[in-house]
Amino acid sequence: MTEPKIDAARLALPASVGELTDRLRGGGYIADRGLATALFVSMSLGRPILIEGEVGVGKTEVAKVLASVFGRRLIRLQCYEGIDTNQALYEWDYARQMLQIRALSERQLDDDDAVDKLFGPKFLLERPLLDAVRAGDQAVLLIDEIDRADDEFEAFLLELLSDFQITIPEIGTISASSPPLVVLTSNRTRELHDALKRRCLYHWVGYPSIEREVEIVLLRVPGVSETLTRQLVAAVNRLRQLDLAKPPGVAETLDWVATLDVLGETELNARTVDDTLGAVVKDRDDLELVRENLEEIVSGA
Ligand SMILES: Nc1ncnc2c1ncn2[C@@H]1O[C@H](COP(=O)(O)OP(=O)(O)OP(=O)(O)O)[C@@H](O)[C@H]1O
Ligand SMILES: [Mg+2]
Repeated sequence: MTEPKIDAARLALPASVGELTDRLRGGGYIADRGLATALFVSMSLGRPILIEGEVGVGKTEVAKVLASVFGRRLIRLQCYEGIDTNQALYEWDYARQMLQIRALSERQLDDDDAVDKLFGPKFLLERPLLDAVRAGDQAVLLIDEIDRADDEFEAFLLELLSDFQITIPEIGTISASSPPLVVLTSNRTRELHDALKRRCLYHWVGYPSIEREVEIVLLRVPGVSETLTRQLVAAVNRLRQLDLAKPPGVAETLDWVATLDVLGETELNARTVDDTLGAVVKDRDDLELVRENLEEIVSGA
């Protein structure tokens, strides 16, 4: 008897920014006040949220954790150059349609009904956006790295986000009774259109503060030494101040901690940094620059 109640509470929208922050933390995600507030407003108003920010700072992860802590299905649309509506919306399953045509006799092929069925739900391949419209508020729709898609696709998305309905000529119009929670992310490799931004709430995610990053590591890498974590996070922050082509994100901090942990290292010194630098700096010129500044990075001088 009690189980449905628990589920209902899990699915319900958060009552406050604080509650949302706690639930995200329960799912392993540490959101600062700004991000939690933006997400809270987005959920409460049913507006999409566009999260832009540095590389590896938790933009994608927050959508995954949101879905998991609110008991919703995560539907992910990974954008890339050249993505089009076939991959994003739906496609007809040509191979199965062909097989079906072969299986039909000449006489059946004259029958309009049999031909119509070839363009029925049975032969429709649902892609993430159609899936999300059908799932409605049971889902979190993650449109990841929208900046990689091209202009036309962005314009098409804009239309979808405004009314959450999809028309399939052969089937009809499908609309979401209540829209899913939509999270868009971008690394800002190009500027997005104002029209898309206007449709969304916006939040920029920068690097976390030292305290918050320590907190993230301790939550994500259980059992790791706090002293080592503090040294590492401080070193990563110094790396971010160098003029690197690819400054390390939180993802790299986590990798670095896990690397030192697996090697059984308990403190940071010039040797341990040098040995394990590949976990955190992943560009040849950057590696050289860091090696020139090794002492400073370790000591913080
Ligand atoms: N605030 C946070 N709380 C918990 N984990 C975090 C946080 N920020 C980042 N992480 C962790 O850092 C890693 C990278 O996060 P994620 O992939 O979401 O970054 P991203 O911003 O989407 O990166 P990219 O720009 O490369 O797509 C994940 O393992 C995630 O768990
Ligand atoms: Mg990402």
